[in-house]
Amino acid sequence: MLDECLEGLLTDPSGIYVDGTLGNAGHAAAILERLKDGGMLIGFDRDVDAIERVKDKLKAGAGKRVELVHDNYANMAAQLDRLGIGKVHGILLDLGVSSFQLDIAERGFSFQHDGPIDMRMDQTSGQTAADLVNTASEQNLADLIFRYGEERDSRRIARAIVAARDKVRIETTAQLAGIVERAKGGRKGKKIHPATKTFQALRMAVNEELASIEQVLEQMVGRVVDGGRIVILTFHSLEDRLVKHFFNRHVPREESLQQGGVRKIYEEPPVKWIWKKPLTASEEEQTINPRSRSAKLRAVEVGV
Ligand SMILES: C[S@@+](CC[C@H](N)C(=O)[O-])C[C@H]1O[C@@H](n2cnc3c(N)ncnc32)[C@H](O)[C@@H]1O
Repeated sequence: MLDECLEGLLTDPSGIYVDGTLGNAGHAAAILERLKDGGMLIGFDRDVDAIERVKDKLKAGAGKRVELVHDNYANMAAQLDRLGIGKVHGILLDLGVSSFQLDIAERGFSFQHDGPIDMRMDQTSGQTAADLVNTASEQNLADLIFRYGEERDSRRIARAIVAARDKVRIETTAQLAGIVERAKGGRKGKKIHPATKTFQALRMAVNEELASIEQVLEQMVGRVVDGGRIVILTFHSLEDRLVKHFFNRHVPREESLQQGGVRKIYEEPPVKWIWKKPLTASEEEQTINPRSRSAKLRAVEVGV
């Protein structure tokens, strides 16, 4: 949905744009390509490897200003202040993990590659998924696997994790995937690995992903010029719900007054949805990129 993201985001080719989730810089490079000289891109990633990997590619675009920031996008307002930037013309968030992160065994995001269960997007701080699975109470594990993974067998999985760690510390993705698979009674010919939801849940918990989204939503609406856009690509129903509910509170709706007439109610600043319903990936894109199956793209314009 790259074209739709750009179409939703770009209103002024000489404007200032923020990509809050640089990743492999596919979106960032496409934004830069469409900007005129004088335009500016500010890219965030909390993964220092992502910044290092893409910086030469992005900074090679002469004539446009590029600032790359190693930080959580939850600190967006403070970082814009630091850069001396008030409002921007558009902000893009493409949530979740990058294919690069998933493919590196040492990052521990995937059961497809055996490695230490780390799962931190920012390798420089915070507790790892290994810390979490080896120390959290059975109840906490069950709750987070149920909530973030929407996993119906969360209790059974949490019990199996606690029983396994009582014998030996759980250190690797293969160990954890095996414990979950056995707790769920094996693969039974299913295409999707039984540990998929548990891994997703642990990743979301380790990185406090929903809290970061809540924080950045509040900051973004105040940082976009009138007529500017905020575009968000989500991959999880909890993420999408947060985004939808947050912006719905900013969409003006009319309330009838007792004395006659109407008044508009909304939280400041007002916004309007660009598309009535979220966009989803075409069947073709879903076949090429299975991750896009759960993608929902929403966009708002600020100041209507
Ligand atoms: C799905 S990828 C983005 C892919 C990117 N749009 C591209 O075209 O390659 C998500 C990226 O956002 C980063 N990320 C996730 N949550 C973040 C947060 N709260 N703050 C900053 N970066 C974050 C991840 O480290 C990852 O590199």
